[in-house]
Amino acid sequence: MTKKRLVIANWKMYVHTPLEAKKFAQSLRRKTRAFAGVEAALAPSFALLPVVAAALKGSSVRVGAQTLSGHEEGAHTGDVSAAMVKAAGGTFSIIGHSERRLTEDNEYVHKQLVLAATNGLAPVLCVGECERSQDGAHFSFIAEQIRSALTGSQSLAGKLVVAYEPVWAIGKSAVDAMKPEVVRETVIFIRKTLAEVLPREQAMRIPILYGGSVEPENAKELFIEGGVSGFLVGHASAQVDSFVGILQACKK
Ligand code: PGA
Repeated sequence: MTKKRLVIANWKMYVHTPLEAKKFAQSLRRKTRAFAGVEAALAPSFALLPVVAAALKGSSVRVGAQTLSGHEEGAHTGDVSAAMVKAAGGTFSIIGHSERRLTEDNEYVHKQLVLAATNGLAPVLCVGECERSQDGAHFSFIAEQIRSALTGSQSLAGKLVVAYEPVWAIGKSAVDAMKPEVVRETVIFIRKTLAEVLPREQAMRIPILYGGSVEPENAKELFIEGGVSGFLVGHASAQVDSFVGILQACKK
C-alpha cells in the first residue's frame, strides 16, 4: 500500500486579494508535475475561497476552508457554515486550529467535525499541546483533544485527516520546529489514541500531518524521519515556490 502524501497550505491572513490568490493558484496548477504523487491542498480565507476554487477547477489541487461554524445555520453573524464552504467549492476544512481554539473548546470542535463530515467535507482535525512537560502531561492533553473530537462520531471519520501542531512551534522558523524524532514519537502516540477510539483498520489509514514552522529547509528531514504523511504549512505556504519546495520534499 502506498502511503498517502498530503501537504495543506494554511494561508491564514497571509494572502490578501483575489488577484494574488488567483495568480498563486494558477501558478501552482502549472507546476503540478513537479510534485507528482503528493496531494496539494489550499486553505484560503473564506473571502478568497471561490476565486481559488474556480482557478483550480478540474486540477488535482484541492481547496478547503481554514475553519467553519459549529452551527448548521441561523443567527450567527460572521459565521460560515459547512454547507456554504461546500457550495463555494471546498472539499475539506481545517478544524480546531490552535489559533481558533483560543475561543473554541473541545465540545465546539466536535460539533464542527460532525458538521464537516455530514456535509461531505473532509475534516482536518488539528491537535497539539501548548507546551511540553517533563511528566508527559502533553500526551494526555492531545489524547483528550482526539477523544472529545471523535467520540460519538466515529462513523463520520471516513475522510478524517489529523494535523499534529505543537502550539509552541507554530509561526517560527525551520530551526525552531520540532525535532523529527519527537514528531515521530508523537505521531505514534496519536495513531495509538486513534486506534482506541476508531476501528483499528480505519485508524491505521488516517493521514497524520505535522505543522509548526515547516519550511523547504526542514521539510525533507521531517518527512523522512518524522513518520508523517505530510504537512500543514502556515507562513511558508504563502509563496508558491516555497510551498512547492515543501511538496517536493514529500516526493519519493
Ligand atoms: P507555521 O503555521 O507553518 O507558520 O508555523 C502552521 C499552522 O499554524 O498551521
